[in-house]
Amino acid sequence: MAGSSPALVESLSAGLAEVDALLLRRVDHSDAFIAEASGHLLEAGGKRFRPLLTLLSSLLGSGPNESVVAAAAGVELTHLASLYHDDVMDEASVRRSVSTANARYGNSTAILVGDLLFGTASDIVADLGPEAVKIQAQTFVRLCSGQIRDDRPCPAGVDPTEYYLGVLADKTGVLIATAARYGAMFGGCPPEVVETMREFGEQLGIAFQLADDLIDIESTAQELGKTPGTDLREGKRTLPVIYVLASTDPADARLQSLLLGDLSSDAALAEALESQVGAPGDRSTLEGGEAAVAMMVRHGILTRS
Ligand code: IPE
Ligand code: IPE
Ligand code: MG
Ligand code: MG
Ligand code: MG
Repeated sequence: MAGSSPALVESLSAGLAEVDALLLRRVDHSDAFIAEASGHLLEAGGKRFRPLLTLLSSLLGSGPNESVVAAAAGVELTHLASLYHDDVMDEASVRRSVSTANARYGNSTAILVGDLLFGTASDIVADLGPEAVKIQAQTFVRLCSGQIRDDRPCPAGVDPTEYYLGVLADKTGVLIATAARYGAMFGGCPPEVVETMREFGEQLGIAFQLADDLIDIESTAQELGKTPGTDLREGKRTLPVIYVLASTDPADARLQSLLLGDLSSDAALAEALESQVGAPGDRSTLEGGEAAVAMMVRHGILTRS
């Protein structure tokens, strides 16, 4: 929060502490194993980006209050539930610098704990009224539809970049949109401000996932708290991969064949990661980013002011 006033930092820190206290209380369970498995990722950390956005957005109105804190906790728990499921899908073994629930307890437990956490999130949101519940339900439908499409190849005849951007808006954009929307709603903002924050949140969420996809390739395990190259290993067609595969430059041929081949061995994955895909200053990635932004503007996913 560099550049923020001390009063703002204090208000946001206090709000986040309340969110965390509520999360810890609600994730607890009378069964010791369930309590451990559901608290596992929560206690491991995370950026708390979504609840922070809810708190910030509430400042456009009267600021954080009990409902804003509950809404922020509901969003973070919905996110947490999606992480348990995502790590099963992506066969990931490390998250938030600890072993994933699927690695530690097996896929069935990880899926069921994700479901349980989503149920708890809905329970919290239910106290905020039917409109909030409807928003959360519609958010989760879009998030899951994005995750389902993320796990499938781009259908024939569909442009891969457009497919990717649509997936990204659904799997990540919508929940970040809801985080911003709830903050404005429960901060008492007028409907037009709530809608503006929803749109802003969705665009921010798209940018957030674009960045996440780049750092999957560019960062170290220590920086990420996750295993770098997971997307490449899973054959995910993220933006840098789409642009490398579309390249006609013979210098990209080796990388293309690696990306299209079997990256299950550590040596093959390391070679792909050390290649120029997504490297800072890489021309195709930069041009890819520009082209993606232009396309998002064209399709109304992003507005350029
Ligand atoms: C990870 O989200 C999943 C994505 C949508 C990229 P975060 O990067 O917010 O994960 P945590 O909460 O900080 O662990
Ligand atoms: C996940 O995207 C988005 C979700 C809806 C959870 P990723 O699969 O890229 O998230 P990470 O990189 O594992 O956190
Ligand atoms: Mg993942
Ligand atoms: Mg994933
Ligand atoms: Mg990722």
